[in-house]
Amino acid sequence: MYRSHNCGELNASNINTEVTLAGWVQKSRDKGFMNWVDLRDRYGITQLIFDESRTDKTVFELAKTLGREFVIQVKGTVIEREAKNKNIPTGEIEILVSELTILNSALTPPFTIEDETDGGEDIRMKYRYLDIRRNPVKNSLLFRHKVAMEVRKYLSDLDFCEVETPYLIKSTPEGARDFVVPSRMNEGQFYALPQSPQTFKQLLMVGGMDKYFQIVKCFRDEDLRADRQPEFTQIDCEMAFVEQEDILNVFEGLTRHLLKEIKGIEVDKFPRITYDYAMKTYGNDKPDIRFGMKFGELNEFAQHKEFPVFNSAELVVGIAVPGAGNYTRKEIDGLIDWVKRPQVGASGMVYVKCNEDGTFKSSVDKFYDNDDLAKWAKATEANPGDMIFVLSGPANKTRAQLSALRMELAARLGLRNPEEFAPLWVVDFPLLELDEESGRYHAMHHPFTSPKPEDMALLETEPGKVRANAYDMVLNGNEIGGGSIRIHDKATQQLMFKYLGFTEEEAKAQFGFLMDAFQFGAPPHGGLAFGLDRLVAILGGQETIRDFIAFPKNNSGRDVMIDAPSTIDESQLKELHIKIDSI
Ligand code: AMO
Repeated sequence: MYRSHNCGELNASNINTEVTLAGWVQKSRDKGFMNWVDLRDRYGITQLIFDESRTDKTVFELAKTLGREFVIQVKGTVIEREAKNKNIPTGEIEILVSELTILNSALTPPFTIEDETDGGEDIRMKYRYLDIRRNPVKNSLLFRHKVAMEVRKYLSDLDFCEVETPYLIKSTPEGARDFVVPSRMNEGQFYALPQSPQTFKQLLMVGGMDKYFQIVKCFRDEDLRADRQPEFTQIDCEMAFVEQEDILNVFEGLTRHLLKEIKGIEVDKFPRITYDYAMKTYGNDKPDIRFGMKFGELNEFAQHKEFPVFNSAELVVGIAVPGAGNYTRKEIDGLIDWVKRPQVGASGMVYVKCNEDGTFKSSVDKFYDNDDLAKWAKATEANPGDMIFVLSGPANKTRAQLSALRMELAARLGLRNPEEFAPLWVVDFPLLELDEESGRYHAMHHPFTSPKPEDMALLETEPGKVRANAYDMVLNGNEIGGGSIRIHDKATQQLMFKYLGFTEEEAKAQFGFLMDAFQFGAPPHGGLAFGLDRLVAILGGQETIRDFIAFPKNNSGRDVMIDAPSTIDESQLKELHIKIDSI
């Protein structure tokens, strides 16, 4: 038996008990005649004491050879500690060691295994297994497990059945590039790793599974960001015989359950806003509604004077920043520079100070009088003491710029409290999105999403205006889930492929299996997928998903620990029928 207890469970009630513990040496304090060692495992830290007067000489001497991260086993007696540590559960006791076995020695770790480590990101990723020994990383993984367990419990209780779907498949378009896998047995042919199990879960509905879920890896070859990894995990769900309302209710229930069980927070019914409203009001389809600063459109009140910048703009739009009326000239100039950075791309910014006495002071006083500015204040819901910032230009770009400014100001003003949770649904997404480069429409969600029946007629004339039965769940400014009611008949699916520019042959080659299935009694169905990594990170009060993934990729999509991707043997390439010119 390696251990009778773990390193986190002994306390004063165990005094005088003989115990066996095993773990890693966190640190030792050798005072010559007395040597204390902190022994660590997943569950905590227990202090060991080696005392020249009470410990066997060989054990005492051996303890002096222990280095950081040595793996040891000790036998001893639980005794009361002289200097108690109220900060840890085992802080009242220590183990007077009688036997010590070194199970394994360890090199000095390249960074300190402490909550606050001296190791930079790169070195911690290279030695991720050491990083995982640290509390912040270990706790993130335990936290993820807890969320996943609650999800499984909640959905299983509602009769959802977890079904595994294959990883070696054919492309499922979700808007990213596929990772592909060459087939040795089928020369010149490739599998694609799933960007999601989308088509399979629909086929499970045709198969009568009724309620499916899966906590599943998905693979997308896209540029990395804090909230994106090339392989990530979805809580993927599908239901038959449902309408949008049913799906929203079930998954709102799941999210509410998680917030309650994991965070102890009760939230009211989630607000629902349309995509159009989100874009107009927040400049963004995943608005952070923990704070206000809603957009006020000002065209009506700003284009009647001689200010050419506004007069020539498609959109003039502003936000009122609470309490920012006392910003100094320097602070304002700093913000103007901030919006002019290429990442944001504004050409300039107008500001209006809302004085306590109800008057205004703006950077465009030359053009606008107090009455004009009062209208701007009303449209942006500004109060005395606020500052209104106004941007103008092409509508979509300007909205995106003001949205970036809104988020930045909220962060600076401390309005993005990670312990506050403001979930909402964004509904009525457009079905199609125009790709400016190719001039072609592509599915905003994916090609299996159904159009709203009342908008079908617009498909021919104004495809960009057709709304979909599609919805996203947004939490604190992050898209944590999205889904739709699907097309479930062959004719509509065929029509959709046609509008997306697929020839009949292409559609058949790529998705013939799905359209075939639709001819064998496909039930109406729909579903959604949550990004588990994102959900866990946000519930954990962070936005970087990497911290909640045991072995994540870095920003170039590399696993620096195992050094992947890497080249493969020429013989292996040959077997796979792959020729690489540069080899
Ligand atoms: P969607 O593409 O919106 O929908 O993905 C669902 C959720 O997965 C998360 N997500 C990611 N998380 C981390 N890294 C990534 N690269 C990444 N990409 C997406 C997001 C997102 O909301 N099949 C559909 C779902 C459906 O229609 O049922 C789908 O995959 O949180």
